[in-house]
Amino acid sequence: MAEPNHMSLELPGAQNGAHPSSENGTAPALPDEGRRYAQIIGWGYAVPEKVITNQDLEQIVETSDEWIRTRTGIEERRVAADPKETTATLATTAARRALEVADLHPSKLDLIICSTSSPEHIFPSTASIVQDAIGAVNAGAFDLSAACSGFVYALSMARGHILAGDAEYVLVLGAETLSRVVDWTDRNTCVLFGDGAGAVLIAASQVPGGIIATELGSDGSGADLLTIPAGGSAMPASLETVSSGNHFIKMDGKAVFRFATRVMADATKSVLERAGLTPEDVDLVIPHQANLRIVQNSVLKQLKVPEDKVFVNLQKYGNTSTASIPIALCEAIQAGKVKPGDKLVFVGFGAGLTWAACAIQWSVPTEAAATDWWKNTRRQAGYQAAAARSMWRRAVRWVYHVWPTDPESGALPGDEGIKEPETAVNGVRHSEE
Ligand code: COA
Repeated sequence: MAEPNHMSLELPGAQNGAHPSSENGTAPALPDEGRRYAQIIGWGYAVPEKVITNQDLEQIVETSDEWIRTRTGIEERRVAADPKETTATLATTAARRALEVADLHPSKLDLIICSTSSPEHIFPSTASIVQDAIGAVNAGAFDLSAACSGFVYALSMARGHILAGDAEYVLVLGAETLSRVVDWTDRNTCVLFGDGAGAVLIAASQVPGGIIATELGSDGSGADLLTIPAGGSAMPASLETVSSGNHFIKMDGKAVFRFATRVMADATKSVLERAGLTPEDVDLVIPHQANLRIVQNSVLKQLKVPEDKVFVNLQKYGNTSTASIPIALCEAIQAGKVKPGDKLVFVGFGAGLTWAACAIQWSVPTEAAATDWWKNTRRQAGYQAAAARSMWRRAVRWVYHVWPTDPESGALPGDEGIKEPETAVNGVRHSEE
């Protein structure tokens, strides 16, 4: 895999991805003319092995391959059949791949944002679980809930943190195991969704481009059109909510379809306007992969973007919700459809109702080249060390629980050896190099 040329994206003073924090704890030393940009420097995805075809679904509900293909474009989807495979495990694999592409050590991450509608738990966040699994010891972590628009919302948050000078490296994840919240007896929904995760790594850079504009929107008056009614404060879990199936996805497909075709086109137009671009300038649109007819009726027909400039892979994965855009991005890169200088649009819609779009000027090489074996070995050793660190901290907490000690000190034994020395810069923790 080609060493992505992210050295050229580094801020002055940064060596090999080091934080450009000054030693006395003041703001990063940027030259006056230095503007910050948020560049995508790493990407990766993960999908479960288990494939469920339309023919498989014919055995489960009253449907047909023909109906699913003609009404949605979907041919098969991936499902996390192994109970040990969860939103966090898929997100962790995708995250590791993105870090590998960027050749970045996890300790350099300042922030991890995980967009998901099928998190591991209501809390803690799935992002924190991924943070622990990859050993991102200096990163803050939180989940973001904006359904299928969530990944683009998260990109917008990452860009904001970077442009404000609050972060140098942000990992953005879109991860779902919607198969766990789909009613497999409801043909209106179970044929649509699939599982998967995608990750992108965003870095502060002085190279112009990157995520150049974003557009976010919401219309909560349509909240009931696509929802999991129970399990929150409005309808806490009870025997009745379980027996009535209220923990499963409920959807008014027709209403969502109408909304989606309108907002996909409108959000794309708005974000292009903000970026000072026209649809003709765009090299590739990566839409949320929900339904081929939505893509055709919005991006192709209304915006008149030619078919070869729209990336679609929903036939293989179905609607993986917030993971669909980053998975499609990775496959578009693999297919050689993304090159430095290209202008990209990501556009999504989903429950909320929400919509989101962003315009990107791609800036890093995407060709694949061999990775050094020793780097791979070092990376694997790093992940084993992160697992050992996590187990150690759990063990120490257990000992503290059994032998209560000085409540004044919250530190766990070994913290000194694990944590890197830190300085506070603009409210964001930075390790001194
Ligand atoms: N197999 C066979 N028939 C099905 C079916 C299935 N899986 N699902 C629904 N049908 C039936 C309906 O029951 C209806 O039958 P009826 O006329 O006897 O009542 C018929 O097919 C037509 O349904 P309709 O709702 O008109 O189909 P549609 O063309 O709107 O397509 C969707 C249905 C769900 C594919 C489409 O509305 C859609 O994609 N909506 C957006 C959903 C979405 O993207 N959600 C996620 C947002 S992130």
